[in-house]
Amino acid sequence: MIRIYRAKDYQDLSRKAANILSAQIIMKPDCVLGLATGTSPIGIYEQLAEWYRKGDLDFAEVSTVNLDEYIGLDGAHPQSYRYFMDTNLFRKVNIDRTQTNVPNGLAQDFDAECRRYDELIRSLGGIDMQLLGLGHNGHIGFNEPGGSFEKGTHVVTLSESTIDANSRLFEKKEDVPRGAITMGIKTIMQAGVILLIASGEGKAQIVRDAFWGDITPEVPASILQLHKQLIIVADEAALSKSPVTEDYTVI
Ligand code: F6R
Repeated sequence: MIRIYRAKDYQDLSRKAANILSAQIIMKPDCVLGLATGTSPIGIYEQLAEWYRKGDLDFAEVSTVNLDEYIGLDGAHPQSYRYFMDTNLFRKVNIDRTQTNVPNGLAQDFDAECRRYDELIRSLGGIDMQLLGLGHNGHIGFNEPGGSFEKGTHVVTLSESTIDANSRLFEKKEDVPRGAITMGIKTIMQAGVILLIASGEGKAQIVRDAFWGDITPEVPASILQLHKQLIIVADEAALSKSPVTEDYTVI
């Protein structure tokens, strides 16, 4: 079953998705949130920080595990995902920084780092709610088309299209790291609830392919059709090629 919330625009999407994450935190104050970086979740993190400032949300007992990190960037690098999380969310709320986890892009032994990360998620009792963005090519985390559905956390070589898409955030394309550590599809599928967000016309085709098309490793996000609790929050533009006519639809 997929629950789809259609938002008017990016602001509405951010508010609706932040509401769902807040509900998770309120229901289970010591929950484990799986988090994403990228452009899409920025508005959600702003909204959560605002509710925290107003006293409506408490992160004191929350733990987080991020989906991925570039290889070769340390946490102080402005393009690292650790830095992104610190600046967009963690420093703005009362989360215990030692309870926030991002894969180590500078690990000496990457296989050991991948095993450590999966073990960490297990030791936390698994992910209660995983937030996901959607790549234009259907990737989730850094699980690129053609990969395996069966992997836990692993090292990937980024596809040319992902390097192109991410180069907007770097001074020049050559600065974009060529590799990353990412939770695998298996790790992601084990989360209790998945909350996927998509915004803008540029995502309209891939939203349709991923959730109304075949389940295939060529479109990694398509496997999410088999998740028991998938919630999609997308704006009208991102849903413009999908058969969604209501503000709330269950398929
Ligand atoms: C980020 C991540 C990526 C992004 C995806 C969409 O941690 O794992 O899969 O969610 O590339 O990125 P945006 O939101 O920038 O379109």
